[in-house]
Amino acid sequence: MKRTHTCGELTKKELQKEATLCGWVHTRRDHGGLVFIDLRDRYGVTQVVFDPSHNKEVHKNAEHLGREFVLQVKGHVRMRPAGMANSKLITGEIELLADSLEILNRAETPPFEIDDRNVAAEELRLKYRYLDLRRPTMQSHLLLRHKAMQAVREFMSSQSFMEIETPMLVKTTPGGARVFKAPSRTHPGTFFSLPESPQIYKQLLMVSGCDRYFQMARCMRDEDLRADRQCEFTQIDLEMSFVDMDDVLAIGEGIIKHVFKKVLSVDIPTPFQKMTFHDAMTKYGSDKPDLRFGLELVEVTDIVKHSDFGVFKSVVDKKGRVFCLKAPGCGNFSRGEIEEMIDIAKLHKLPGLAWMKAENGKLESNIAKYFSEALQKQLITAIDAKDGDLLLFSADQYEKAANALGQVRLHLGRKLNLIKDGQWKFLWVVDFPMYEWNDEANQWAARHHIFTRPHDDDWDKLETNPAAVRGKLYDIVLNGVELSSGSIRIHSKDMQERVLKVIGLTYEEATKRFDFLLEAFKYGAPPHGGMAIGFDRLVALMGGQNDIREFIAFPRNKSTDNPLDGSPQPWTPEFLKDYSLKLEIVQKK
Ligand code: AMO
Repeated sequence: MKRTHTCGELTKKELQKEATLCGWVHTRRDHGGLVFIDLRDRYGVTQVVFDPSHNKEVHKNAEHLGREFVLQVKGHVRMRPAGMANSKLITGEIELLADSLEILNRAETPPFEIDDRNVAAEELRLKYRYLDLRRPTMQSHLLLRHKAMQAVREFMSSQSFMEIETPMLVKTTPGGARVFKAPSRTHPGTFFSLPESPQIYKQLLMVSGCDRYFQMARCMRDEDLRADRQCEFTQIDLEMSFVDMDDVLAIGEGIIKHVFKKVLSVDIPTPFQKMTFHDAMTKYGSDKPDLRFGLELVEVTDIVKHSDFGVFKSVVDKKGRVFCLKAPGCGNFSRGEIEEMIDIAKLHKLPGLAWMKAENGKLESNIAKYFSEALQKQLITAIDAKDGDLLLFSADQYEKAANALGQVRLHLGRKLNLIKDGQWKFLWVVDFPMYEWNDEANQWAARHHIFTRPHDDDWDKLETNPAAVRGKLYDIVLNGVELSSGSIRIHSKDMQERVLKVIGLTYEEATKRFDFLLEAFKYGAPPHGGMAIGFDRLVALMGGQNDIREFIAFPRNKSTDNPLDGSPQPWTPEFLKDYSLKLEIVQKK
């Protein structure tokens, strides 16, 4: 080894001892003839002193060291002078008096400082990711990720799960997400899909008798990126045989509990709270409610339908719903602040928001005149409005109206500082609807993948009322982020036929699309179910952030480019020839 210790290790226990350190020049300072270097590696920083009265030649060499030079320094550990200790560092009480110095490598002046207090612009960070990753914060993120991954593996092994890898070159299978495709060289004109998840393969593993499968699965989806979405990401993917919903939920909770304890020493209480999709939408305007604060929505359809306000009346006539959100004490919001919320509602597909202020036991605004005194009183009671409160109303079809107001709720939660740090509000959202009506196609469509098993009590509604059929589906939500989703699957042909029929597919048609899974199901598929936890999201939230890129070594920017390697790259004539392809780019309308 070129070193005896790391840069985060030496303390006064090693006083007078000889030590050799290797690392990068974090900072260099000249003070009254002495040269001080902060030498940095993954483990920390150690102050190294080059003293001409101790060793003239070594000191002379140290005068020309630049930032990020790679050094090997041999020296003796001594106490820092009185008053110079840095209590924030493990190594803060000592310094290494250099006896020898070897420059292992020089470095050009880096494009930005490797400094947590002065973080570079995003594009630059991504282009020089290997420099950005030298920052202690980024190293701590990678370490957190590593520890969480080990904790997951430890827990899963303890529960008899086998880690099995599934293929990366696959056939397009139904999952909902748009997949990446890779052309085949050996079979010109054909392509492989990159897996959006191991869904089909893990179900095949259940048919294979593997009983309990898991994988730290790499998934690829060709979708627009957001803070919590990358086109390459990792799932804690699992599938279990001979189980029902509660068994899978217990494993999901077990993973979370174990990882939080192991990595953060935090005790997460289990079982998690459960909330139906319907309650989550109606109370919080979201299927992933942030329970760190209140501000519940109140449905007021039955009250406002008696008003003379045309907008509400026409929505109610079309079987739409009206929701109200009380912004406590916000009656003094400026026009601009209200407009800001209306814009949020518009962004979420609502034409706008109506609003009224509670004043002197009445409601005020330019629409208040459409509400009789008695109706105003009913509203005030239903919403528990106090003078000085601002009431915001959304009116549209159920999910649209609730969702838009739910987004305004989140905005208010942040604006009014209602979200306190350090809370872990886990919940299961369950009982998602199986189907949704697709206006364009004029038929029912599956909301999740078609292998989801309907709720035991809802089989008889499949043919008569598909909208009311709930699936055995379950999501873990943490602080308003969808952390996982999963379901109990269908495992028999007759169940599958009935579920497919609702969306207008015969078993034979489905067999053409999902051939190999349905083929496998003919040979004794066990009842099974599973789930996948978004590992990047889990780790980011554990690290106190929402942006998963901070916890991924080499992420992409928002336009899915990677400024580091320049991918995606253009096809060249050579590549095309290899794949027996001709390129014609068709402009999208
Ligand atoms: P789903 O598509 O809901 O389910 O994904 C499961 C979890 O993976 C995470 N996730 C993502 N994380 C980062 N970037 C993305 N683009 C991204 N997309 C999804 C989320 C999500 O909750 N096969 C099913 C699971 C199952 O039924 O077993 C599946 O993939 O945290």
